[in-house]
Amino acid sequence: MQKVRIQQNFNRASKTYDRVSTIQKICAQQLVILLQQHFPDFYPTSILDIGTGTGHIPAALFNIFPTSQYLLNDLSEGMLSMAHIKLGNQPNISLLPGDMEHVQFGHQELIISNFALQWAAQLTRILHQLYERSNLLVFSCLLEGTFTEWTALFTHYALPLPTYAYPTEQALTTYLLSLQARHCYIKTQDFMLTFDSLLHFIKYLQQLGANTGQHFLTPSQLKTLLKHSTHSFTTTYKVYFALVGDP
Ligand SMILES: C[S@@+](CC[C@H](N)C(=O)[O-])C[C@H]1O[C@@H](n2cnc3c(N)ncnc32)[C@H](O)[C@@H]1O
Repeated sequence: MQKVRIQQNFNRASKTYDRVSTIQKICAQQLVILLQQHFPDFYPTSILDIGTGTGHIPAALFNIFPTSQYLLNDLSEGMLSMAHIKLGNQPNISLLPGDMEHVQFGHQELIISNFALQWAAQLTRILHQLYERSNLLVFSCLLEGTFTEWTALFTHYALPLPTYAYPTEQALTTYLLSLQARHCYIKTQDFMLTFDSLLHFIKYLQQLGANTGQHFLTPSQLKTLLKHSTHSFTTTYKVYFALVGDP
C-alpha cells in the first residue's frame, strides 16, 4: 500500500517537481562532481539511474558521458515521461519503469541514485543488490533528522508523526563499511529551506510528491497545525552522499 501511495504522489507531482526541486537538483550536481573528483579517469559505458524522477542526474551526466548507455528507472510513469521529454529522444537512453526493489537489469558499470533510495522498503537489501551489480555505486539519500522541525510540531501537538522513517547516518555507514569495498567515500551535508508559512511548506511537499508519511493528516489536525503556525517556517534536509566500489 505504501508503494502505491508513493507512486500516486509522484505521478501527481511530476509536472510541478522541476519547479520546486532546487535542493534535489543541487545534490544531483554534487553527486556528479564527487564522481568526477574521486574517479576522474572513469568513463562508464553503462549507467543505471535508480528513481530518476524528471532526470536531474542524467541531465548532469550527459555532459560528461555523452556516449554511455543510460537506463532510467522510476516507479512513477509520470516522472519517467517528464524525464523523457527533458532529455529528448536520445538513442542511448532507455527507460526501466517499475519498483527498484523488483525490476530486472544486467550488470552496469555505474549505478547512481539521487534522493530515491530512502523510499525502499528494505534499504540494505537494495544497496547490496546495487553494489553487487555495478562497478561503482554512487548515491545520495535522506537521513533521519530530515524535516525535524516539521516532526517537532507534531510531537508538540501530540499528533501521529508525519514523516517517513529515514535511515540513520550510523546505520548506513556501518552497512557500507561492512561491504569492504576497495573505495568507500562518504559525506553528509545539511541544507536549510525557509518558507513564508507552514502552509507553503505543506504545498511544497505536495508539489514535490514527498507527502507520503506513515499517517494521513485529518482536516482537524491540519487546522490545529496551521492555527499555531502563521509565521515563516524553516526546515532541514540531512543528506548522505556515498561512492562505493572499484571502478
Ligand atoms: C525525490 S524524487 C528524486 C528524483 C531524482 N532522482 C532527482 O534527482 O530529482 C524520488 C523519485 O524516486 C522514485 N521512487 C520512489 N520509490 C521508488 C521505487 N520503489 N522504485 C523506483 N523509483 C521510486 C519516485 O517516483 C521519484 O521520482
